[in-house]
Amino acid sequence: MKLLITGGTGYIGSHTVVELLSLGHDVVIVDNLVNSSELVLSRIEKITGKMPQFVKADICDRDALNDIFSTYKPEAVVHFAGLKAVGESNDIPLSYYHNNVTGSVVLFEVMAAHNVKNLVFSSSATVYGENNVSPLDETMATSATNPYGRTKLMIEEILFDLAKSDSDWSIINLRYFNPIGAHQSGLIGEDPNDIPNNLLPYVSQVAIGRLAQLQVFGDDYNTPDGTGVRDYIHVVDLALGHIKALETLATLSGCQAINLGTGNGTSVLQIVDGFSHISGTKVPFKIVPRRAGDIATVYANAALAKDVLGWQAERNLTEMLEDTWRWQSTNPQGYTE
Ligand code: NAD
Ligand code: UD1
Repeated sequence: MKLLITGGTGYIGSHTVVELLSLGHDVVIVDNLVNSSELVLSRIEKITGKMPQFVKADICDRDALNDIFSTYKPEAVVHFAGLKAVGESNDIPLSYYHNNVTGSVVLFEVMAAHNVKNLVFSSSATVYGENNVSPLDETMATSATNPYGRTKLMIEEILFDLAKSDSDWSIINLRYFNPIGAHQSGLIGEDPNDIPNNLLPYVSQVAIGRLAQLQVFGDDYNTPDGTGVRDYIHVVDLALGHIKALETLATLSGCQAINLGTGNGTSVLQIVDGFSHISGTKVPFKIVPRRAGDIATVYANAALAKDVLGWQAERNLTEMLEDTWRWQSTNPQGYTE
């Protein structure tokens, strides 16, 4: 299949591009590199033997997108491009609404104009808000607690409306739980621009000595060890979920939301212990007050993905932590020449 991958040089996008190229798909990436490095492209080539086509452009740039659709004639789009830092979205909400929501609407308009109506969209478990009890399933009510989450919810709703208005559209909103890990080669992985917000990149930067100490946000939750529980999923399993979603679009009409998670919960302290063991470095941490907006326990009901996509996560927590460490220890400063 000929595919347009927005945000394809980013963390999840790059792993998905590797799997797509390995399966023989024809890929063009559009990314403005606001949160990724062009060096990713040569790493993808090293892994797959194929250099993906790449256009540096912003999804808000309608003319650039029109050119890309005219030149490459994709049959489907996987839409990863977006800003994703929750804290930053509270500080600069308009940038988030413009980049994520306006950018997505421009993309969908250009798709419609070129009669490309097959789409896989990167949504998030954040759309389940704070009031549902895990395991979270796709029938539950959605809500958002911050501008980032609201952009995901708005884009999902735009897509449900779009599919209702025109039955030619086939759309899957993939609701990711907590992606971690890296490609087994150690050549691509997560490379945050600033101090990481998420747990795993923070822990691995402490282990490599770039950061002094992890702050554990609260140990008084109603969980087995008092720290927050999340559904961590290997980024390669997540990438493979996109392949299954693309294959499913052919038999699906309308718009469907599907969780990509493992269905298992792991606490912050279990991650710290596991990472210390695998890296051979005791990860120093201190308990600090809870982070605003966090909830105790979040994990998926992963049944729908199995039923509809024929997909389930295969990689266990040890593999997730080993692959994270291989990437971090062989690329201590992330993507550098
Ligand atoms: P990432 O930041 O590594 O990748 C996003 C890519 O989009 C980056 O390469 C960035 O340069 C690009 N981009 C951003 N705005 C753009 C624009 N206007 N035009 C063109 N390119 C643009 O993030 P990721 O972790 O790979 O996440 C991919 C998608 O998955 C995002 O939409 C994110 O919100 C969603 N998601 C991520 C997580 C997670 O924990 N990583 C969880 C749930 C959902
Ligand atoms: C966060 C975002 C969520 C987003 C998700 C994946 C918030 C409030 N939520 O969720 O919208 O979809 O990332 O990108 O930011 N932790 C620490 N110390 C740290 C970092 C995290 O103790 O330095 C804890 C958290 O309290 C949580 C767990 O580790 O219990 C996982 O945190 P994180 O990786 O940020 O993911 P989420 O909280 O699930």
